[in-house]
Amino acid sequence: MASSYKIAVIPGDGTGPEVVAEALKVLRAAGGKHKVKFDFTQINWGGENYKATGVVLPDDAIPMLKKFDAILLGAIGHPDVKPGILEKGLLLALRFGLDHYINLRPVQLYPGVHTPIKDKGPEDIDFVVVRENTEGLYAGAGGNLKKGTPDEVAIQTSINTRKGVERCVRYAFEYCRKRNRKKTLTLVAKTNVLTYASDLWERTFHEVGARDYPDIKREYAHVDATCMWMVKNPEWFDVIVVENMFGDIITDLGAMVQGGMGIAAGGNINPEGVSMYEPIGGSAPKYTGKGVINPLAAICAGVMMVEDLGASAMARDIEEAVKWACANKLKSLAAGKMGFSTSEVGDLIAEKVS
Ligand code: IPM
Ligand code: MN
Repeated sequence: MASSYKIAVIPGDGTGPEVVAEALKVLRAAGGKHKVKFDFTQINWGGENYKATGVVLPDDAIPMLKKFDAILLGAIGHPDVKPGILEKGLLLALRFGLDHYINLRPVQLYPGVHTPIKDKGPEDIDFVVVRENTEGLYAGAGGNLKKGTPDEVAIQTSINTRKGVERCVRYAFEYCRKRNRKKTLTLVAKTNVLTYASDLWERTFHEVGARDYPDIKREYAHVDATCMWMVKNPEWFDVIVVENMFGDIITDLGAMVQGGMGIAAGGNINPEGVSMYEPIGGSAPKYTGKGVINPLAAICAGVMMVEDLGASAMARDIEEAVKWACANKLKSLAAGKMGFSTSEVGDLIAEKVS
């Protein structure tokens, strides 16, 4: 384990800077105990910077970020900026530019956290979604014909490559093996309608699984049925592998099932490169600057980051502190209902881990 990590910090828009500040507070505190030094470099990309300079992402952004060990991102999205500009120009540009081909989103209900699913508890809600993060409908293929006329045509094409599918599926099998729970990987797709794209996924899934992962049980579920099972029988899932857009949708459902956007974290991962971790909720403009937003999701993004960097003991320590705060301190995980301010929640965790 290295004793020093260079981290690029992009606080971003809205409540992003508030929650990132708490994540950094916790990482510094835990780093002190575990003799890990963090060298944080703050980068002010986002809506405000775009409004002031007209630049969403500088030309040298990708080579510059490749010099770091990891990236911690707050949130992207500004009420004064037309939807799509920052999302595509910044968030997706970083995911594509750094080839973050995995979006890893754990769905775990911690003890003491309220879930809207009646009669289900922490032992039932504990699975991980491996979302493909660089292809599908997000690849941006498409266009318009006769725009603005009654004959207008809009085409948005889902791109699925054997290479892109296979590297994602392999990551999911490896992850499932390492996780060592139910050893079950579920492919989520829509083979009954998407007879080209889902077919490629299904063939790749079974080929790779049969050849290289005979110890992992393979299951299949349609994406619509998956939404049903996530609510009715979430305990059936161990690891899910899914294409980009379906993964986007089911992980918002997952976030609600595990207690809301206040706790849901994810990693944009390039296993061979520089990965980027983020709370999966948005910039929440209506809560900005009020000190009411929950920083636990950003803190949990930090946990995923240090785990991947190799500081597992530190990751476990912070995660235990988060669980302790959920079980014993916070009244709710919702913004403004925690019984603590944003920075007080950060203080609780930081104190516990120092
Ligand atoms: C997410 C977000 C993004 C996505 C948006 C902001 C582009 O919803 O991280 O899930 O669709 O991937
Ligand atoms: Mn989303």
